[in-house]
Amino acid sequence: MYLGLDLGTSGLKGILLDDDQRVVAETTAPLTNERPHDGWSEQAPESWIAAAEAVFAELGAKADLSGLKGIGLSGQMHGATLLDSADKVLRPCILWNDTRSAEEAAELDGNPAFRKLTGNIVFPGFTAPKLAWVKRHEPEIFEKVAKVLLPKDYLRLWLTGEYVGEMSDAAGTAWLNVETRDWADELLAATDLSRAHMPRLVEGSEVSGTLRGELAAKYGIPAGVVVAGGGGDNAASAVGMGVVKAGQAFVSLGTSGVLFAASDAYQPDAASAVHTFAHALPGTWHQMGVILAAADALNWFAGIAGAPASELTGSLGDLKAPGRTLFLPYLGGERTPHNDAKVRGAFLGLDHGADRAALTRAVLEGVTFALADCAEALQGTGTSIDRLIAVGGGSRSDYWLKAIATALDMPVELPEAGDFGGAYGAARLGLMAATGAGTEIATPPAIARTIEPEAGLTQAFKDTHDRYRAAYGAIRSV
Ligand code: XUL
Repeated sequence: MYLGLDLGTSGLKGILLDDDQRVVAETTAPLTNERPHDGWSEQAPESWIAAAEAVFAELGAKADLSGLKGIGLSGQMHGATLLDSADKVLRPCILWNDTRSAEEAAELDGNPAFRKLTGNIVFPGFTAPKLAWVKRHEPEIFEKVAKVLLPKDYLRLWLTGEYVGEMSDAAGTAWLNVETRDWADELLAATDLSRAHMPRLVEGSEVSGTLRGELAAKYGIPAGVVVAGGGGDNAASAVGMGVVKAGQAFVSLGTSGVLFAASDAYQPDAASAVHTFAHALPGTWHQMGVILAAADALNWFAGIAGAPASELTGSLGDLKAPGRTLFLPYLGGERTPHNDAKVRGAFLGLDHGADRAALTRAVLEGVTFALADCAEALQGTGTSIDRLIAVGGGSRSDYWLKAIATALDMPVELPEAGDFGGAYGAARLGLMAATGAGTEIATPPAIARTIEPEAGLTQAFKDTHDRYRAAYGAIRSV
């Protein structure tokens, strides 16, 4: 049996797979996200440990953990977890969707070494500018920083007692040479840090350590169970969806929205605001467009509408042509294609007919157009995608998937196994680390349904996408 743990933004999910990769049990412990100031987004690392304890206890109640052979980790990327020399957490983790370090990001991005060595723009959400922000605004904390860990690597420290990171998540720090898959000393030095502040690196399918004896005894797990390197949540999801070779792609509708394409080679195009990262498997890379609010935007609106998101989307019926109302989902700024930390969201074109259903549709359409922008950005780098597998909580809405298929004019496939994303891929990486299996086990999932574009509506979606694009320019100037 293999365990996959996915440390997401809204919850920590654990799933157990048997030797044939069938799901034996799953559970999720919720997490909350603090936004103490505009553009900030933080989480207490201690809450991840409490959530992991809850997941172990719950899975232990559902299945016999004495058969566990491997554990894999997946996690929200980019977060800066700062530890002192005694491994004490120095401040709340600054998360991937926190844009406070826009100024520091622009300064680092002005140093050509960053784009040259990382293949990416230095986005405010990446880890390096966050450390530059802490140095400038919280120097007393910066002075004490002994280790900087990504969220799932902090979980690993608790699981194994070791400081280890892996390539796919490390690629989102802006300190990794993404081509050679090693820390770039020059970039670390540019933020007054060194290799000593970083964890050692392994590939996602390699062993990173073994479960601490104390935890193994507590949860009835055999001693010496291996913990795989794992992956950033998007790379881990890709392993779960079998998106490991050029030409394969998925769309993720989690808190963030991601359009992800695997590639056999390192082909960066920093200027495009497309992310080029190492994949979680050796010798592979990937590109992705990332938007900061996908299901996050829907959940925000559901909170205001006073109804669960599933109720809002479930009552929409068949896909309709977009109406007059536009929604721009830039609640906390945007990454691809704008790299704009200052822009904020908007409803435009409200009229007397703008009821709850119309606004729900506008929210789904707005996120859909943001993903269509990502598709264009990816195409601009020469990456071609002709079908997508859908993952993430938002993929439970048929209306949304039909809108995406229509706006991107390509079929969207819905896996049978349900919304296992990063946790499923993490368990696979755990299996690889424990058995030495390779890419051959990262097969695509059985597809429950393929959602085709609605041919009669593609022109209407194109026209509204044009209005949406123009709206970004307009709101930016006010
Ligand atoms: C990717 C990104 C998000 C987070 C969400 O660059 O920032 O997808 O990984 O968990």
